[in-house]
Amino acid sequence: MAESKLTISFSAKSWPVTSAVASGDQDEMYAASVDALEWDARYSAIDSLWSEEPNVFLVAKAEGLTPGRALDLGCGEGRNALWLAERGWEVTAVDFSQVAIDRGRGRAERRGISVDFQVTDVIDYRPEPAAFDLVIVFYLQLPHEEVREVLEHAVDAVAPGGALLVVAHDLDNLAHGYGGPPSADVLYTVELVTDSLEDLEIVEAGQVKRPVSTPAGDRVAIDTLVLAQRT
Ligand SMILES: C[S@@+](CC[C@H](N)C(=O)[O-])C[C@H]1O[C@@H](n2cnc3c(N)ncnc32)[C@H](O)[C@@H]1O
Repeated sequence: MAESKLTISFSAKSWPVTSAVASGDQDEMYAASVDALEWDARYSAIDSLWSEEPNVFLVAKAEGLTPGRALDLGCGEGRNALWLAERGWEVTAVDFSQVAIDRGRGRAERRGISVDFQVTDVIDYRPEPAAFDLVIVFYLQLPHEEVREVLEHAVDAVAPGGALLVVAHDLDNLAHGYGGPPSADVLYTVELVTDSLEDLEIVEAGQVKRPVSTPAGDRVAIDTLVLAQRT
């Protein structure tokens, strides 16, 4: 495995371990990850598909930022959106799974926080241009053409001085890492992301290693991480 430009090791505790991953059945979990109904079925099958804890890389990169407006594309059950909202961000969170969004809304209500959750396909979604101080795209594993499309709109949404943070399962994870989709078609490379961010300045770009606790012991997953900003 190529040495990563940016290698961060974190405690495994805060990475979402799905029931499928926990049972070693991640192939089934990610097979044919294509439409909203299928994602609805996955979310409906279990009380919580992902951990409620925010992603470790989001915490590492966003903890010190001054809160403003944030946009979470493909937000799932809202773990990252909720974490940002609890820190004072005004968050818009978008996902095409009604079940995931309902769960996010329920969590927000229980925690007494406000997030603007929207059921929308991110391919069609046109966020308000130059309006968000932080745009995040986490584990949105789509075919590369669709990733480019989503990133184009994500870039448009970044306000002057704002940032875009993209984290996803990396192509190298297929042969050298744990979990994630078993199909190269939806795995990221650093270049896939950076090539789509022409209008932004790249702050960090590389592979990052993410420890994962599994019933079979500790494993390491390899993610793509790109942080960029509009100067
Ligand atoms: C692996 S989950 C990640 C969720 C969240 N970003 C997180 O890190 O917890 C991928 C999410 O992307 C959503 N998704 C996939 N394709 C989408 C699309 N075209 N439009 C909106 N949401 C989509 C799924 O419904 C799912 O909730």
